[in-house]
Amino acid sequence: MRGRSAGPVLGVGIAVLDLVYEVAVYPAEDDEVRALAMRRVRGGNVTNSLAVLSQLGHDCRWVGILGDDPAADLILADLADQGIHAREAMRVPGGTTPTSSILLSRGGGSRTIVHFRDLPELSADDFGRVSLDGLAWVHFEGRNPLETARMIRRVREEAPDVPISVELEKSRPGIEALLHGPQLLLASRAFARAGGREDPGDFLEDLLVRSDARLCVVAWGADGAAFLARGGQVQRVPAYVPTRVVDTLGAGDVFNAGVIHGLLQGRPAAEAVVQAVKLAGLKCGHPGIVVER
Ligand code: ADP
Ligand code: FRU
Repeated sequence: MRGRSAGPVLGVGIAVLDLVYEVAVYPAEDDEVRALAMRRVRGGNVTNSLAVLSQLGHDCRWVGILGDDPAADLILADLADQGIHAREAMRVPGGTTPTSSILLSRGGGSRTIVHFRDLPELSADDFGRVSLDGLAWVHFEGRNPLETARMIRRVREEAPDVPISVELEKSRPGIEALLHGPQLLLASRAFARAGGREDPGDFLEDLLVRSDARLCVVAWGADGAAFLARGGQVQRVPAYVPTRVVDTLGAGDVFNAGVIHGLLQGRPAAEAVVQAVKLAGLKCGHPGIVVER
C-alpha cells in the first residue's frame, strides 16, 4: 500500500494535545470512574492525516498554530518523530496549545471529545508566507472558512496543477466558501446531518452540485463510506470490520489520508475509497493512529 508522491503533501489545520482516557464503559454525568489507561499524545485532524500519509511513505509538511508551552514542544517532537516538517508552523507567545480530553469506551470503541482552544486561527496572510514550491497535494481542514477560502485561491493561482482537498467535518458559518477550488471534498456524517441529510447519496448529490469538486466523499462511521465522482453515480462502500473495535479516535482522519493516498497513487476513485475504508477499519482495531506495524 506504500507509495511516495512526487513532492510533499502540505496539510493546513490543527495540532492538539490529546489526553486520552480509556474507560470500561462511558460514565454517567456526575459519576466518578477510574480510567483503565491514559495517554498524552499529539492529535488534531490534519496532523493525524499527515501522520498516516507519512507512514504510507509520503513527504509531509504541516502548517498551523501552536501555543508557547510544553504541549507545543510535545507536538513538535512527535511531528519530528513522524518525519513531518513543521518548520513553518507558528507559535503564539504566551499562548496555550489546543487540548482535547477524550474518553475512549472499551465497551464499543466510542470516543467522546471535549476540545479546548483559544488560539487565533491561521490567517491567509500567515499562509501567504508558506512556500508552495514542488508540492504534490494540499489538504485543508474546513475551518475559519473565509480565510481558508483565500488560502485555496492562492494555491489555485500560484500552483494551479497542485490538487487540493478540504475536510468538511463540522458545519461552520460561511463553509460554502470552501466548496469552490478543491478537487476533492471529504465530508463527515455529522456535516451531512447538520445540513439535514440522513442519506449519504442525497447528501453527495447536493454537495457535488453546490461545488466544483471532481470527487465528493462522505465517511459514514460503522456503515462505511460513500462517494460521487462528477459524471458518475453515488457508490457506497461497506465498512471493513476489524476483529474487535477498540479505538475509533481519528478514524475519519485515517480515512481522509487513505483517500488522498489512493488518488496520489493514481488510483480511480472507487479503489481509493475502498482502500481508505480498509485503512480506517484496521485502525479501529488497535489503539492510536497507526496504519502499519
Ligand atoms: P470520525 O473519526 O470523523 O468520527 P467516522 O466515524 O465517520 O469518522 O469514521 C471514518 C471511517 O472509519 C468510516 O468511513 C469507516 O470506514 C471507518 N470506521 C469508523 N467506525 C468504524 C467501525 N466501528 N468499524 C469499522 N470501521 C469504522
Ligand atoms: C480526532 C481529533 C483529535 C483531536 C480532535 C480535534 O479526529 O483530531 O485528535 O483532539 O479530533 O477536534
